[in-house]
Amino acid sequence: MNAPHSPSTLASVPMAPSDPILGVTEAYVADPSPRKVNLGVGVYYDDNGKIPLLECVRHAESERLKSAPHRGYLPIDGLAAYDRAVQELVFGSQQPGIVTVQALGGTGGLKIGADFLKTFYPDAQVWISEPSWENHRQLFEAAGFRVNSYPYYNAQTHGLDFAGMQRGLSALPPGSIVVLHTCCHNPTGVDLDNDQWRAVLDIVKSRGLIPFLDLAYQGFAEGLVADAYAARLFAETMSPVFLSSSFSKSFSLYGERVGALSVVTADAGEAARVLSNVKRIVRTNYSNPPTHGGQIVATVLGDPQLKALWDRELGAMRERIKAMRKRLVDAIQSRVPGADFGFVLKQRGMFSYSGLTSDQVRRLRADSSIYAIDTGRICVAALNSRNVDYVADAIAKVVR
Ligand code: LMR
Repeated sequence: MNAPHSPSTLASVPMAPSDPILGVTEAYVADPSPRKVNLGVGVYYDDNGKIPLLECVRHAESERLKSAPHRGYLPIDGLAAYDRAVQELVFGSQQPGIVTVQALGGTGGLKIGADFLKTFYPDAQVWISEPSWENHRQLFEAAGFRVNSYPYYNAQTHGLDFAGMQRGLSALPPGSIVVLHTCCHNPTGVDLDNDQWRAVLDIVKSRGLIPFLDLAYQGFAEGLVADAYAARLFAETMSPVFLSSSFSKSFSLYGERVGALSVVTADAGEAARVLSNVKRIVRTNYSNPPTHGGQIVATVLGDPQLKALWDRELGAMRERIKAMRKRLVDAIQSRVPGADFGFVLKQRGMFSYSGLTSDQVRRLRADSSIYAIDTGRICVAALNSRNVDYVADAIAKVVR
């Protein structure tokens, strides 16, 4: 440590704001209340309030440990079996024109893609939905982009502002990068239907936009294939398409950081050149990805029985979240008969944009140790049969 009298060269470093999502978890962890509930971060908990270890994961993991695997480096672009399995799961088949590289979660996939785009489209600007996942803006700004937004959500109807979205996208300059949530929109839970996706694709193609699809919740809306509709539609009809995907939630492997970046290119030659540059970006950032999570996912996806087990376990998570939406809505409406929270039942995935104001969110935290995001986003996947009435009581108090 410096002697107290020598001025520190770090003295002018200001305090950075706490993260709008993970900062909420920090506050939750520090709260001593036994009744506390974390509806902030997007994490699935089971009905006992625990992050599940999926049976398919337990199986793949114990088989892996039995074989006492070596701890050498993975290739820069990750485990080949994992990359192939991701491509098949997302796009329905492996294709020579698609590049897929293992990444550190969905965030890692976004960041590698953002760095690639900044290298080759330095003057482009990025457009995210209004609202969007808090980290989208920070991440693309950190990669050097100017980040703007297009209309998406209508707070009055609690639904999609599709006319506004179409208008917004149709006015973008050619070459703009558009970030689209392929399913389970974060934070609103409000998705496009398949007709709307086709209309968006037409705009993206006719305006010459560069789509960056964010697929972090495949399997949480309707199922693995249905939730890949937009990804497959775009990949079949245009290039380039960038797509980041994640198994954090769908495999309950949050801390293993298992995600991917895929880039749909025009042909195998272009794919090889894109891959070579993506690898340089990975190499200069973290060299190569970790093994354990990728190996587990590759094992499960490569074994028809384990894959079927995973699909069932994922379906059970999806259905439990839907059941919790219903329990919450019924419980609030029985306490506040005039309140209409029916829109929560139409939202998909882990989140509900609850309509709670930032002031109501503050009161939930101060009075009941219930933690939500300031925007009113709550994680329905953190509700369970023991805390849902407590949460409904607290929400009823702040909306009355
Ligand atoms: C969320 O939105 O809560 C999750 O995607 C977790 C994260 O990294 O923010």
